Amino acid sequence: MTAAVADPLAPDLEAALRRLKLAAVRRMAPEVLTTAKVQRWAPEDLLRTLLESELAARDASNARARLRAAGFPVRKTLDEFRVADSSIPRPTFDYLASLEWIRARENLVLVGPAGTGKSHTLIALGHAAVEAGFRVRYFAAASLAEALYRGLADNSVGRLIEGLLRADLVIVDDLGFAPLDDVGAQLLFRFVAAAYERRSLGVASHWPFESWGRFLPEHTTAVALLDRLLHHAVTVVTSGDSYRMKEARTRAGGPSPRA
Ligand SMILES: Nc1ncnc2c1ncn2[C@@H]1O[C@H](COP(=O)(O)OP(=O)(O)OP(=O)(O)O)[C@@H](O)[C@H]1O
Ligand SMILES: [Mg+2]
Repeated sequence: MTAAVADPLAPDLEAALRRLKLAAVRRMAPEVLTTAKVQRWAPEDLLRTLLESELAARDASNARARLRAAGFPVRKTLDEFRVADSSIPRPTFDYLASLEWIRARENLVLVGPAGTGKSHTLIALGHAAVEAGFRVRYFAAASLAEALYRGLADNSVGRLIEGLLRADLVIVDDLGFAPLDDVGAQLLFRFVAAAYERRSLGVASHWPFESWGRFLPEHTTAVALLDRLLHHAVTVVTSGDSYRMKEARTRAGGPSPRA
């Protein structure tokens, strides 16, 4: 129940707020002005309340835009992640969740078998980073390679890479899922080299590091890429059974997954 019915804003104020694009102030002002009169607010408090509502609305709209730009394939959160059920040590998880590594331009590299929470961790950290005001981009490695290939075709790889590195964190998921040819590997190397010590990369692969030569055809490329990727990095080796299988088993109510 509202104490008093708010009068509409005077047309000149309404027009001025519209012109200044202060949409939240325009929306809130009638009610806030009425409350301020009834409760005899100090003028300063009135101004503060209106400005805070505008700032909050802008922060929320910027966060929504950053979330769209990030291109996450699904929504995952850190709260949903059961650290105790994963092979990620709690202190490592807490450090990652603090997002300090993004401020420090460190990388995060997760390697481990299917269903062990690599993508969940990356995407949830990406979400948290977006909420904290960072710019994030998510790619499956194959889409990133495709984008870089297209850039090669029209001579825009350099610009493309610089564009990607406007993000504070670039996530490259499923690296090594599909093997890369020489050109693809070179392009990926160029990207990692450009990001080196400038931006954070979050990478997940089911290949242990010693096997990266399997999807990076040139041995030297694999070595040079890993060298840059791991120089300032948190590395997490995930292990255990697939969480998907565990969930399937629980749903099926039996001890082993149905064939
Ligand atoms: N510790 C966990 N707590 C909660 N959910 C989890 C956990 N680990 C994994 N999951 C869930 O299990 C599913 C598989 O996890 P995820 O996609 O992160 O695996 P992955 O390691 O990326 O596997 P792949 O190598 O096949 O891509 C997801 O739905 C994820 O949300
Ligand atoms: Mg995954």
